[in-house]
Order: sequence, then structure tokens, then C-alpha cells
Amino acid sequence: MQSTQSTESNLLPLVPAYDSILALAPYQTGKPIEELTREYGVSDVVKLASNENPIGCSPHVTLAITEQLGQLSRYPDGNGYYLKQALADFNDVNVDQITLGNGSDDLLDILARSFVGADDAIVYSQYAFIVYSMLAKMQGAMDVEVPAQRFGHDLKAMSQAVQDNLNTKIVFIANPNNPTGTQLEHGELREFVASVPSSVLVVLDEAYIEYSPESNNRALLDEFDNVVIVRTFSKAYGLAGLRVGYALSSVAVADLLNRIRQPFNVSRIGLAAAAAALADQDFIEKTRLMNDEQMRWLEKQFDALGLGFIKSHANFIMVEIEVEMEDTNAAVIYQALLEQGVIVRQLEVYGLHNWLRISVGVAEDNMRLIDTLRSILTDD
Ligand SMILES: Cc1ncc(COP(=O)(O)O)c(C=O)c1O
Repeated sequence: MQSTQSTESNLLPLVPAYDSILALAPYQTGKPIEELTREYGVSDVVKLASNENPIGCSPHVTLAITEQLGQLSRYPDGNGYYLKQALADFNDVNVDQITLGNGSDDLLDILARSFVGADDAIVYSQYAFIVYSMLAKMQGAMDVEVPAQRFGHDLKAMSQAVQDNLNTKIVFIANPNNPTGTQLEHGELREFVASVPSSVLVVLDEAYIEYSPESNNRALLDEFDNVVIVRTFSKAYGLAGLRVGYALSSVAVADLLNRIRQPFNVSRIGLAAAAAALADQDFIEKTRLMNDEQMRWLEKQFDALGLGFIKSHANFIMVEIEVEMEDTNAAVIYQALLEQGVIVRQLEVYGLHNWLRISVGVAEDNMRLIDTLRSILTDD
């Protein structure tokens, strides 16, 4: 028999959420192009909001995907044999040091679920990727946010925070960091890892490593069993829509992560596409060169417009919107850009009210951004 009670009174006693989850704001994604078209009727949309690869992905990916289309009724290989072999060769690690994920977000989540309980703490930096603080809340754990230094990680203060919080289980470090684009030196990072107890996992999130190959910290894995490196195919490899990421760690950590992950967390198409994408390093080189060239161009334009920015080592840049013009701040500029079909990212959630994060696009998109920005700022 159907209940006659209202939905609300039915739901309330059935929602035994932790207070920390009730306090959690959902992750804000970049506005999808389709949504802007629907809401504002703008058809010619430029999206510079989610650090995607504006030149797409390797052409080899299409062939690899096509080859899988006749097999869609079959489960994927739950162990991702071929992709893991390719990743092991590429990163010079053993296959049993690899965990695959449904995007790197999946791996960050698996790490938190594997190691962090309600009485534990997660340490991360102010302005570091927002997901780290969300994971602490999801686990009902303590989130220890360490004040940033010149918008980047203050590793000395983070080391102190670990010493002060003996219940720390994971330190998350994004290198380069999103949204600030800042990067850490090898030496200081090594010193940091050496300074924390070996029972604390140091997770190096290298989502943007292809744009800054010199910040690759793969070597730390050989020296420290508590280091985990998380990477993704969503950014330079151009496969954000497919959701594939991986973690490199000690065998012992990988063994735990592989127990927690869902058995088929990467799809058949994702596995094949990622292997094809990894094999095409010429595409990555082309992507990096295009990004470098366009980044330099954008920096010049921001200088010319009198807008401050933080030097970025990734495929996006954080730009300061000065509150000189009456009523003009980042939220106003964001909205004005949106109405003219240019999607960028607001950073309110980081407390960066006067800043916007702008992904580097192809030349045409960047010109459109700058022209639109100039006309908004100068009221043309
Ligand atoms: C620093 C960082 N880590 C992880 C991710 C998650 O990416 P994905 O789940 O697509 O691999 C992102 C995405 O924006 C990111 O910026």
C-alpha cells in the first residue's frame, strides 16, 4: 500500500548523514557548453573553465575506441592488464604498484576511504584543489588547512601541521596546483616527505604534470613507501569525458587501494582509449608547445589590460580582477563573460573573490576571451 505521508516527513528520519556531510557544498563544475546555450541562447560558446585540452585528444584514440564498439556487452578487464603494462613501462614501475581509477577523483576518494577514519586528519594547503577538504568532510575527519605562502604550498608549515596533528593520515599536495598554477621544487618536496612520519601518506596530485614535466616527482617513489602519485588522462591527454586516472605507489598501498576500488571502475572504452593516448607522446608534446605559446600570449594581454596574474605551470591561469571600477569584481566579470558566451571559472569557493581561473584555449578562443574581456573592462 502506498504511504500517505509527505515525502519530506518520509525522508527526514531516513537521512542519517554525518553533520560534516550535511555541511558539505557539492563540487562546482565548470558550466557545460550545452547549459549556457540553453540558459542564454548563446550558440557560439568558448569554454575555458575546466582545464580540458582544447585540441582534443590523439587521433589514435578514435581507432582504439572503434575497435571496442563490438564488445560493449562484455565487462571490461577489471585488472586493466594492457593499460597497466603500458603505464608500468612508461613510468618505470612494477605493474603491482599501479591502481587505476575512474578519473583521478576516484583515486583521491579511494585513498581517503582506505586510510582516513572519523578520528583522523587530512592536511592540505589553503588554495589547494578543493576536493581534498571535501574528502575530509566526507570521511567525517578533521581537515587541517595550512595557510598558503604566495598562493602556493608552505611546506614548512605543512610539516609543522603534521607534527601538531598526530592523527594525520594523508597530506594532499597538488603539483602544479589547481587553481593557482604554482609549482614546488624537488628539493623542498623531498625534504618535506623526509620530515613526516612514514605512517603518513603523502599524496602528490600530478594532474597537470604533462604541462610541467620538470615537476615530475616519480623518483620519490623509490625512496619513500608512503608517497603516492596520482595522475589523470583528463587534462593533457584530452580524455576528460572518459574518466581514467591512475595512482603509482608502493606495492603495499596499491594492494589496499585495489581492494577498495570498484571491480570495474574503468570502462572498456576508457582502458583502450587511455592506452592509445599514452602511446602517442607526440600529441602530448604538441599540446605542451601550444599551451606554452598561448600562455605567453595571454600573459602579455593581461599585462596590457593591467590585470595581475599568478605565474602558472599548468594549462590555466589565475587572473586578478581589480576592484577599481565601481561594481566591478570577479563575479560581475564572470557573469558578463558568460552572457557573451565565454565560460571561465569563479573561485569564490576558495575565498578568492577577486580572481578568475581561465583555462588556456586555442589561439582563436583566447583572442575571443581577450576581446570580450577588454570590451567589458573598458565599457566599449
Ligand atoms: C589537481 C586536480 N586533481 C584531480 C583532478 C580530477 O580530475 P579527473 O577526475 O578528471 O582525473 C583535477 C580536476 O580538475 C585537478 O585539478
